[in-house]
Amino acid sequence: MIDRAACEIRDQNDPLRAFREDFVLPPGTIYLDGNSLGAQPAAAAARAHEVVTNEWGTGLIRSWNTAGWFELPVELGEKISGLVGGGAGATVVTDSTSINLFKAASAALDIQAEDAPGRTVILTQRENFPTDIYILQGLARQLGGDYEVRLVDDAEVAAGLPTALTDDVALVVLSHVNYRTGRLFDMASTTEAIHARGATVIWDLCHSAGALEVDLAGSGADMAIGCTYKFLNGGPGSPAFIWVSGALQNRFAQPLSGWWGHANPFDMVADYAPADGIRRFLTGTQAILSMSVAEVGLDIFARADMAAVRSKSLELSDLFMTLVEQQLPHHPIEIVTPREREHRGSQVSITHPEGFAVMSALIERGIIGDYREPSVLRFGLTPLYVGFTDVWDTVEALRDILDNRRWDLPRHQVRGSVT
Ligand SMILES: Cc1ncc(COP(=O)(O)O)c(C=O)c1O
Repeated sequence: MIDRAACEIRDQNDPLRAFREDFVLPPGTIYLDGNSLGAQPAAAAARAHEVVTNEWGTGLIRSWNTAGWFELPVELGEKISGLVGGGAGATVVTDSTSINLFKAASAALDIQAEDAPGRTVILTQRENFPTDIYILQGLARQLGGDYEVRLVDDAEVAAGLPTALTDDVALVVLSHVNYRTGRLFDMASTTEAIHARGATVIWDLCHSAGALEVDLAGSGADMAIGCTYKFLNGGPGSPAFIWVSGALQNRFAQPLSGWWGHANPFDMVADYAPADGIRRFLTGTQAILSMSVAEVGLDIFARADMAAVRSKSLELSDLFMTLVEQQLPHHPIEIVTPREREHRGSQVSITHPEGFAVMSALIERGIIGDYREPSVLRFGLTPLYVGFTDVWDTVEALRDILDNRRWDLPRHQVRGSVT
C-alpha cells in the first residue's frame, strides 16, 4: 500500500524538484491542466513588462531590429527544434497549430501530387483533436473535391495502419499523443509504415512537445506542427510551431504566401518569391508580445533534461493509476490511458458517469484538471511543477468527493463556454 509519507519522500528525492520555483501557481492549488494551458513561468510577467515598456514603449518601431523582433520566429524555432529532435534550421514559431496544419497539409499534397500523382486520400484519426479533422476537411473542400478525408481508429494507427494505407493515400496526419486518452503512438515505426506505402506524414506534437522525448529527424518524419501553450508553458494562445524535414523545405509551396515568407520582404515587389528554407513557412506579421513571453517558457527547458522529465512523468502517471485502483475500487471509474509506459503521454484520463460534476467539485477545492466529452476527467502531469504528493492529494480528494457524493450539487452542473 502506498501512503502519503511515501509520496513525500519521493518528492524530496526528485531531481526536478527545483523547477517548481520557475512557476507561479496560486497558493493551495494543484495544477493538473498543463496539458491544456501550461502554468505561468515566474519570469513571464517581468518579460511581458519589459517588452511592453521598453521594447515597445521606448524602442518603438526600432525594436524590430534592435530588440530582435523580426528574428523571433526563427530563434524560438531553434529552441523548440532542440526539444523535438528537429535539427538546426528546420523549425519556426508562428501562427496557430490549426493554421500551420493547413499550410503543411497543403504543401504536402502539392509534393505528393508531383511525386505520385493520383493519390486522393488524406487519412487522420477519428479520435484526433477536432481542429485537425476540420482543417483537413476545409482544405479538401478548397481543393475542389479531388481529395477525401478518411478517418481511422486509434487501434488501427497503433497497429501500424495495416489496412488503412491503401494505394490512394497521399497524406497521413496523426496526433502523436491523443488529447483525450493520453495514448502515445510510435513515431518511428508508424512513419516507416506510411513511407513504405508511399504516403507523407505530418505529426501533431501538441501533447508531446515538452512532455516527452521526440525524435522527428531520427524517425524520418516529413513535417510536424504543435503548440507552445501546453507543456511548453508559452501562455494563453501563444504561437505554434511548424517543422519541415530538410528534404522537403525548399519544395514547400506556401499556400498562405504572405510577405513574411518572401525571399526579400522589404523589396516590396509585386511578385511572390519564396524565401529559401524555413522562413517560407511564415505568412505575415507575428504576435510579438505573445511570442516574447513564450520564449520564457522555452528557456526553462534549456536547463531541463528531457530524459529526466519523461522519467518523472511516467512515475507520476504510474502512481496516479495505481492510487486510483488502490483508493477508488468501489467507484464506477475506468482508466482510459494505456497502462503500458511506451503507449502513454503525460496525462492520466479516467471516466466516471458524473465526470463533469466530479471535476467541478475538484476544481472548487483547488485541484485543477479538466473534462472532455464523453465522461472523461483529464489530469495532465507536468513534471516541472507537479509532485508525487500532489498526485496523492488529488486521488484522496477524488475519494472524498465520490464517497460523499460531494459532486451532487446543482452548482457542479453549471457549464461555462469552455470546459
Ligand atoms: C492535438 C491538438 N491539435 C491542435 C490543437 C489546437 O490547435 P489551435 O491552437 O490552433 O487551437 C489542440 C488543442 O488542444 C490539440 O490538442
